[in-house]
Amino acid sequence: MKIPELAELRVSLDWVDDHLEVIDQTRLPTDLVTLRLETVAAVVEAIQRLRVRGAPALGACGALGLVVGLDEHRPATAEEARALLDGLAQRIGSARPTAVNLGWAARRVRDAAVAGGDTAEIRRLALAEALAIVAEDRQACQLIGEHGARELEHVHRILTHCNTGRLATTGWGTALAVVYTLAAGGAPVEVLATETRPLLQGARLTAWELADAGVPVRLLADGAAASALAAGMVDAVVVGADRIAANGDTANKIGTYGHAVAAQAAGIPFYVAAPLSTVDLGTASGAGIVIEERDADELRAVQGAPTAPPSVEVWNPAFDVTPHALVTALITEAGVLRPPLARTIAAALRGTGNGTARAD
Ligand code: MRU
Repeated sequence: MKIPELAELRVSLDWVDDHLEVIDQTRLPTDLVTLRLETVAAVVEAIQRLRVRGAPALGACGALGLVVGLDEHRPATAEEARALLDGLAQRIGSARPTAVNLGWAARRVRDAAVAGGDTAEIRRLALAEALAIVAEDRQACQLIGEHGARELEHVHRILTHCNTGRLATTGWGTALAVVYTLAAGGAPVEVLATETRPLLQGARLTAWELADAGVPVRLLADGAAASALAAGMVDAVVVGADRIAANGDTANKIGTYGHAVAAQAAGIPFYVAAPLSTVDLGTASGAGIVIEERDADELRAVQGAPTAPPSVEVWNPAFDVTPHALVTALITEAGVLRPPLARTIAAALRGTGNGTARAD
């Protein structure tokens, strides 16, 4: 199978002509629209409305968002710039709570930039750090794809959840990087994409981006996944992650846990593909992961069309936690980490606390 080069395809966001440009993912699959985000309010709105989404893309957007904030407010002194960066790291970094990459990237840009002696140097350091985060993400995606393709070289039918590709990162993706790498290597890979209610990231985004790249994809309702697994229609489940605790418990899009349980019942391997920036050593287990709860109207309607009584009570968690015991292995840029995950994660990371550690 011939798939295009990454440079020929669109990714979630980029720094273009000294501005932050993002694909508005709420408009897909019908319209491919690029937005230029020129204010902090626009950056926060884009993150909270899921115009930009997916843990690594959130990190990149948050990082570049601090530069947007410097350009918007134009602080007069280095003191003012440092105070501004503190506020921006807090405001942008906490725009969504679960994906650890967002706060991590915002703090990383702030910490690098405050070392600058004047406003110009602070801005230059902030941009350099944010672009380094983007470059590292692209590289991590590439390596995750390569490690995953080696691990799954005999796997042809992959079930995935939500969107973990070039719309969720600034490179090939995480779980979908494995798919793209297998496809580029000529493997007859086929993706079963769950639609991912309530916001349909699987149907709107994964189905769109795989079809756009020429990779075979088949859409199924979330509720059909367990039957597909039980019926032998799937060789492996590969998903992404928003936060991986120190013991390997993994937060990902709501519905992931159910797929993991069904995969174990069917004897199908369940992989989590994620960069090490998604590991949060400061969180001991999944019990400590903050799960974002989103607006009730996301469940009472689909794309603005009512599907439930307007005042019905709703529980709308955006993520769930898959216990590490259900995870066959983590696919990271440092390689494939196998159980016991607490030990292999610790061995793959250097440093402590917030996922800023890097592979040995
Ligand atoms: O709410 P979203 O769309 O930001 O959720 C995204 C996910 O759950 C992804 O699976 C995860 O961020 C990994 S993206 C490579």
